[in-house]
Amino acid sequence: MKISLGTDHAGFEVKNNIINFLKSLGHEVIDCGTFSKDSCDYPDFAKEVAMNIINGKSDKGVLICGTGIGMAIAANKIKGIRAGVCWNVETARLISLHNNANIICLGARFLYIEEMFDMIKMYLETKFEERHSKRILKISEMEK
Ligand code: RB5
Repeated sequence: MKISLGTDHAGFEVKNNIINFLKSLGHEVIDCGTFSKDSCDYPDFAKEVAMNIINGKSDKGVLICGTGIGMAIAANKIKGIRAGVCWNVETARLISLHNNANIICLGARFLYIEEMFDMIKMYLETKFEERHSKRILKISEMEK
């Protein structure tokens, strides 16, 4: 899969580890930054990752900030994006299974790197369950 990854300064420390982890799983990674630990604005990275998905450059995205919350709020402003914050492996499974999320958002200040690895792996491996399509369509309707 082609994965776009974006972090702000709060996620910068884990970014390279996540890139290497995604590559070890056989995924292609587009690194959308940030590229230093200097303070920066999470909407910039949320927008780039979201646009890569909408433009077909990536299949899915991973966004990391302090809580994951700002990234999710920002990414969901882009039409067609379904982004949500996950906090354990089970929520990472359900965000694919039930919500067909195209971006997973994680809080670097609340998770160990191993937890992030497990959650990202689960998120990417889990397929959407079609019986939830009606609800996803209702969300798409709200975007019109
Ligand atoms: C940055 O300090 C922090 O606000 C940001 O990483 C994120 O948690 C926002 O939702």
